[in-house]
Order: sequence, then structure tokens, then C-alpha cells
Amino acid sequence: MSVRLGALQRGHRHRLREILDATSVFRESEIDVALELFDEVFAAGPARAPYDPGDGVASYEFVGSFSRDDQLVGYVCYGATPGTDRTYDLYWIAVHPQFQGEGGGSRLLGEVERRLREREARMLVVETSSRDEYSDTRRFYETRGYTQAARITDFYAPGDDRVIYTKPFPAPQPSPTERGVIAK
Ligand SMILES: CC(C)(COP(=O)(O)OP(=O)(O)OC[C@H]1O[C@@H](n2cnc3c(N)ncnc32)[C@H](O)[C@@H]1OP(=O)(O)O)[C@@H](O)C(=O)NCCC(=O)NCCS
Repeated sequence: MSVRLGALQRGHRHRLREILDATSVFRESEIDVALELFDEVFAAGPARAPYDPGDGVASYEFVGSFSRDDQLVGYVCYGATPGTDRTYDLYWIAVHPQFQGEGGGSRLLGEVERRLREREARMLVVETSSRDEYSDTRRFYETRGYTQAARITDFYAPGDDRVIYTKPFPAPQPSPTERGVIAK
């Protein structure tokens, strides 16, 4: 199935909750946080402008994936990490189980990476859990170029470690003109 990527709107809140519930991996408190991020951007009027590295405040950007009949089937939320030089966090990614394994998650992650390369981001950081329910998720990141950078034992709960992955984006090479090379 091919999905269409597009912007989220305030009215998608209910469907977003359905997607988060349906994945069965998120705790209720985690779903609350995911919805808080959504509300921060969409409930209070027009979406805030993307993060200005100067303002020191986190901002959250969303991309949705939509089925052929325009139903929201997945989404990703990411943003620049305050206080860093072009480091970004992937806060949330979820695809409704009925649509998993069809390439939608890869499209969403690929779109975030494309946008970050355009902004000359240096790296994207992803956190996940060591719980068995997340083994497919960890494989998802690992096969897409993310490497484990750190692990905090018992972070979320006893026996539930925080696993931190990063993916670096190589600095763009200057063009021959920028390097001062004159073409013959
Ligand atoms: C992780 C997730 C976003 C991937 O989305 P997706 O649409 O299933 O991803 P794709 O179809 O593009 O890719 C499937 C790949 O992810 C892996 N995968 C992860 N979870 C999967 C699932 N439930 N079903 C099928 N494949 C899954 C597969 O191993 C596959 O890897 P491969 O392409 O190397 O063979 C999605 O499975 C999901 O929402 N999982 C639950 C929520 C979650 O864990 N979010 C991340 C929180 S840190």
C-alpha cells in the first residue's frame, strides 16, 4: 500500500489517540505525553514556527501518513533539541497495526531525515525501550542506519532500559566554487 505524507490538523487528535492505543506498546502515561505534544502545537491556534535555535524552547513538528482514502494511518513527531548545535530528537513515531510492515514507517522516518538534511542537521537522536515489545522497533531503527549510542539500565522501570540511538548526517561537501576551484 502506498501512503501519502501530509500535514496534521487539530481534528486528527482523536485518530492519533486511536493509533497510539492500537499499537499496544505505549503506556497510558506515554500516550498522555504524546497528546500533550500534539496539543501544544495544534490546540492553541496555528502551529508554531519550526524551532528557532536561538530561542532555547523545544518545538515539535509533525508529519502524518494517510491511506488512499485519506485516513490518518501513522505519524511522526520530531524537533530540534534545545541548547544543541543542530541536533534533533525523534519524539514519536507510530503506525496503526493494520498498516504496519507496508513501508509507511520508513516513509515517515525518511521524510524527517530529508527535512533535516535540508537544514544541515548534524544528527537525529531516538530513544526507545529495551522491553521485548520494542524488539521490532529497535530492529526498525538499526536497519535504517541508527546505532546504539547509550543505554541507561532500569531507566523507565526496573528491567526496562532506555536505549538511545543516533544517526549522524554527514556535513555537506562544499561545491568546487565554494572551495575556490575554478573550472577549466
Ligand atoms: C516502528 C513502526 C513505526 C514502523 O512502522 P512500519 O510502517 O511498520 O514500518 P515499515 O513498514 O516501513 O518497515 C517495517 C520494518 O520495521 C520492522 N517492524 C517494526 N515493527 C513492525 C511491525 N509491527 N510489523 C511489521 N514490521 C515491523 C520490520 O522489521 C521491518 O523491517 P525491514 O523493513 O527491515 O524488514 C511501527 O511498527 C510502529 O508503530 N510500532 C509501534 C510503535 C513504536 O514502537 N514506535 C516507536 C516508539 S520509540
